[in-house]
Amino acid sequence: MRRGKFIVFEGIDGSGLTTQSSLLKNWFDGQGFAVFSTKEPTDGPIGGQIRLALSKRLNMRSTALALSFAADRMDHLETEIIPKINNGVVVISDRYYLSSYAYQMLDLELEWVIQLNSKCLKPDLTILLDVPALISKRRMERMRWHVELFEETVKLERVRNNFLSIAERLTKNGENIEIVDGNRPLNEVQKDVRQIVLKALRKTTGEQFLVSKNGEKKIKKLVDFSS
Ligand code: TMP
Repeated sequence: MRRGKFIVFEGIDGSGLTTQSSLLKNWFDGQGFAVFSTKEPTDGPIGGQIRLALSKRLNMRSTALALSFAADRMDHLETEIIPKINNGVVVISDRYYLSSYAYQMLDLELEWVIQLNSKCLKPDLTILLDVPALISKRRMERMRWHVELFEETVKLERVRNNFLSIAERLTKNGENIEIVDGNRPLNEVQKDVRQIVLKALRKTTGEQFLVSKNGEKKIKKLVDFSS
């Protein structure tokens, strides 16, 4: 059986991760692929503790929080992501280890956080939605009444810069990370996202994928994840 793909969306709070990943999932669905979308922190037991800490109902130090994110991730990988990928499913995750690097390095040494996550599977593709902090903050104010731990504008701008610099570093190390300008109408962003995904699928499926003008139709036939 052909291995599925692991696609990750990253970005600061309010950058449109949930919207863009669900639009992509719907597209895969419409193309007839087996697709599963998920997120971090998860709904599992460790994710529950993390959510309490993020909403300041539980007091957790930065080190314990970084360890919890890594533990939640390993559990997520072993119980859901890897089995699904091995069954030919395309897995799309809102957030993964890039979030740990960009957020936890506000308080901790980046190299330690990287070490904590060193056993994690590398995504086939990471899409970083880049949005200025002020824009993301305005979006959140329209949608939500409460502010979580990392959601102040100054912090968010630092996290945004962390994302960009870490993406550059990981790309140099061979990871497939694409930066998309998320400060545009959502359909435009999604158009770019799909093009990037198609390009990545082409690259990884090699000869079995024929580039065609009406690409989206052909992909269904040529990239058969379940055979
Ligand atoms: P969410 O709002 O996308 O559900 O994410 C929850 C918050 O947790 C968000 O502010 C980003 C933060 N976060 C980290 O600090 N480290 C991580 O490893 C992950 C996955 C999220």
